Amino acid sequence: MANDSNFEQFIADLKTRANIKDVVSSYVQLRRSGQDWVCCCPFHNEKTPSMYVHENQRYFHCFGCGKGGDVITFVRDMESLSYMDAVKKLADQYHMEMPEITVNPEAKKEKDRLDLLRGIMLDANRYYYANLKKKDEGQLARDYLASRGFGDDIIEKYRLGVSLSQDGLQGFLRRKEYKVPDIQACGLIYGKDNTDSFANRIIVPIFDAQGNVVAFGGRIYREEDKDNPAKYKNSNTNEIFEKSNCVYGLNFIKEDRKKGIRPDELILVEGYMDVIALGVAGITNVIAGMGTALNEGQIKVIKKNTQKILVCYDGDEAGRKATSKNAPMLEAAGLEMKIISLPNGMDPDEVIKAEGAEGFKKYASEALTLIEYRLKLCREAYNLNTPDGRSRYLKAAIVALSDLQNKVDIDIYTQEVAKTGKVLLENVVSELNKYKREKIIKAREQEQAEEDKKKASYKSVDVIAEKCLKAERFIINAILNHVDFVNLDLIIEDWFVDPTCSLIIEWAKKKAKTPEGIVTGDLYSDIPGPEQINEILNSDKEKRTYEQNKSHYQQCIITLANQYYLRRNKELIDESNKTEDPEERRRLSELGFEAGKLAKSSNIDDKFKRI
Ligand code: CTP
Ligand code: MN
Repeated sequence: MANDSNFEQFIADLKTRANIKDVVSSYVQLRRSGQDWVCCCPFHNEKTPSMYVHENQRYFHCFGCGKGGDVITFVRDMESLSYMDAVKKLADQYHMEMPEITVNPEAKKEKDRLDLLRGIMLDANRYYYANLKKKDEGQLARDYLASRGFGDDIIEKYRLGVSLSQDGLQGFLRRKEYKVPDIQACGLIYGKDNTDSFANRIIVPIFDAQGNVVAFGGRIYREEDKDNPAKYKNSNTNEIFEKSNCVYGLNFIKEDRKKGIRPDELILVEGYMDVIALGVAGITNVIAGMGTALNEGQIKVIKKNTQKILVCYDGDEAGRKATSKNAPMLEAAGLEMKIISLPNGMDPDEVIKAEGAEGFKKYASEALTLIEYRLKLCREAYNLNTPDGRSRYLKAAIVALSDLQNKVDIDIYTQEVAKTGKVLLENVVSELNKYKREKIIKAREQEQAEEDKKKASYKSVDVIAEKCLKAERFIINAILNHVDFVNLDLIIEDWFVDPTCSLIIEWAKKKAKTPEGIVTGDLYSDIPGPEQINEILNSDKEKRTYEQNKSHYQQCIITLANQYYLRRNKELIDESNKTEDPEERRRLSELGFEAGKLAKSSNIDDKFKRI
């Protein structure tokens, strides 16, 4: 965006003027903690404070959810603004005049394009919304929405609309002087007649987390369409809409957050209609994928917004299948996950209709852990009154039990299964152990087969890479924390393999020479990838004494240096093998040999040499 040294200077000044402690404390109450300040993190719900504000280093960081940044990104995320708007807001507040920005023309073109398409989407939404308000033509759609309990307040909040014809939308947008190819790029019209993609459907705009309309969902509503197999139709992925990252409802969660409403957990439902149906009942901590498919991109987005998630898919076969597939993925991503199990065949919408908000909340309060859910499905799948049914139940339940890791859980649920299946506990235990042994053998065989396929060396490479990454991160944290045993001059950039780490090292070396020194908060504006930065800052949670840290630091230096010399050793030998000139060839191979020796040396001073 603004690749302007003027602007960079301005940002640096702004970050100095807008004291992060003062700014954060205008949103949340801060308490002193040594040199720093601490508070309950406003980005996730917590009762014991784990967000630290480092006034001198001008950054904040939450040990609970891993979020961190500088004063600008704090305001950006607190207020759900763009980066530039957060800058503007702070500049205003601190009476600083924004400099004229010369923008790189490529970036400007891209931004203009996005603005144009977003403008089209917003106007399309306005058009659909206005249709719904039309006294006569909108009546049928309003009746349909009313039959689902969606009144004016809901239409207003969720900006619902209706498409009343095939060509109304294109006429409206073209009168606004948008060009057909641009409207097509939004996926709003298709074919040679520029037919409305959502013709004769109820329209639900899909917002991104900032509240931009990025897509539409449309549902049939007219009696004559009731046999249309495509009950719902959604925008396809395009320039402004990435389906695989799309999580509906986050903009509303953010709006609530600004009002101080910070739910402890979010509920994940199948689709936007369920979000809205729960919204009608005043349950607003709800988000949705676009149907039951859930992928890594969406899980990442969810994780950014909450630590606890309640999965609440429909109580039908498809919903159960999706739960069994997605719930373990959410858990594996590190989310605290539970499952709201709705009565047979019902979806959230129907539960609200039949039992009201209280009914739904009751199911939510009885949310099950993954194992409880799986065992419940096993119980329901078989007739427990017959020996054959119980035998099948036990086989299925043992498969579920075999995924448990925690011994106490194994104990508890094995007992439960034995009781339900009406067999002796010891028999369940022995069958479970037998199954686990078989599973391990199968897994081993499979692993072996895979390993045979790969080269044998791959695995150890991964382990070393992991160890090095940890060492790199530890050293970076030591530098950023200005620990006195760090001598930056001795650190060699080439040790660092992770791109963000090596950027930080380069940056730290430069900064150390300025009068201001190393200010961690500046990382966020000087180095791309705030998530990677947060990950690095969040990477070492072990508690050690000063002395232990010091010796760990030396260990890390040795790890990195040794790997570096091993790399150099290989590079130099390879190079020497390729060289024709005998003199040069000898020189390179000697250097390579020297590097190999340094990698093996146990003298720490040898680790600071350069080859
Ligand atoms: N959904 C979607 N895209 C689809 C199908 C469904 O986004 N192609 C969403 C909708 O928001 C819907 C939810 O997933 O609310 C559940 O879909 P489904 O069970 O198929 O719909 P019903 O509950 O039968 O739909 P309705 O309540 O509107 O009759
Ligand atoms: Mn439904």
